[in-house]
Amino acid sequence: MRNLGDDIKMTVNNLTVSYIDEGPDEEPVIIFIHGFPFNKSMWTKQVEVLKENYRVVAYDVRGHGNSDTGNEDFSIELFVKDLLNFMDALNIDRTILCGLSMGGYIALNAIENYPERFDALILSDTHCIADTPEAKEKRLKTIESIKKDGVEKFADESIKNLFAPESFSKKKEEIAAVRDMIVNTTKESLYKTLRAFYERKETCSKLSEIKVPVLIMVGKEDKITPPVAAQLIHEKIKDSLLSIIEHAGHLSNMENPREFNKQLKKFVASVYSKAEN
Ligand code: MLT
Repeated sequence: MRNLGDDIKMTVNNLTVSYIDEGPDEEPVIIFIHGFPFNKSMWTKQVEVLKENYRVVAYDVRGHGNSDTGNEDFSIELFVKDLLNFMDALNIDRTILCGLSMGGYIALNAIENYPERFDALILSDTHCIADTPEAKEKRLKTIESIKKDGVEKFADESIKNLFAPESFSKKKEEIAAVRDMIVNTTKESLYKTLRAFYERKETCSKLSEIKVPVLIMVGKEDKITPPVAAQLIHEKIKDSLLSIIEHAGHLSNMENPREFNKQLKKFVASVYSKAEN
């Protein structure tokens, strides 16, 4: 077994990827993919509850946290290629993927193209649609305003939309942690990722082809990818499960980890026919 809590760095195809890899090697694997512009530390409370019984991996997507940015333009396809290269390097043949928002975009594109590599999906606070013309316009405006007003202002504006109203009084530590994640993301990475979202293709039309178990979770007060977006995914994936997380906005795993983890543990145990711990 590896040392718990180590932040590991590995070079995969000339890109240094930062990740954590915890729990017993021989157990089934769950890989966590964070949202934008955050990093793997947003999954701390999920890693804690799963690592006794599963191998749990959380990595920083290219340009986020402690992973390199590289020279290429970003795209969801590039992020998926990174994920597959990373799984190969870690000798992970199959896994459950859990992605929040951008992590969900990556997970949905990955299963569309490499269905044989995934045992199940957990899609949190995400959606399957491409950016509408208005959303594309907003991406460009966001790039301009970061150039003009800086990352701190971008972080403060983003935070207003990320959390449920009650989290502003009850989840101050989490909000401070998220602010740190945002301000520590380079401008280059912010621009490249916003461009990747602008270019992103929809995945809704392929959802009916997903044949593995899927759990969809969404904060009841998610303003960015609201429950109606989760409902759409749920309707298109046969036998998928939908859980609306109370007392949470877009960052449901951080705002209500108790409920999120309850659903997560139950689902993962059911995929691998294990007793819940
Ligand atoms: C995220 O949390 O990953 C972002 O809200 C995704 C997006 O802006 O589309």
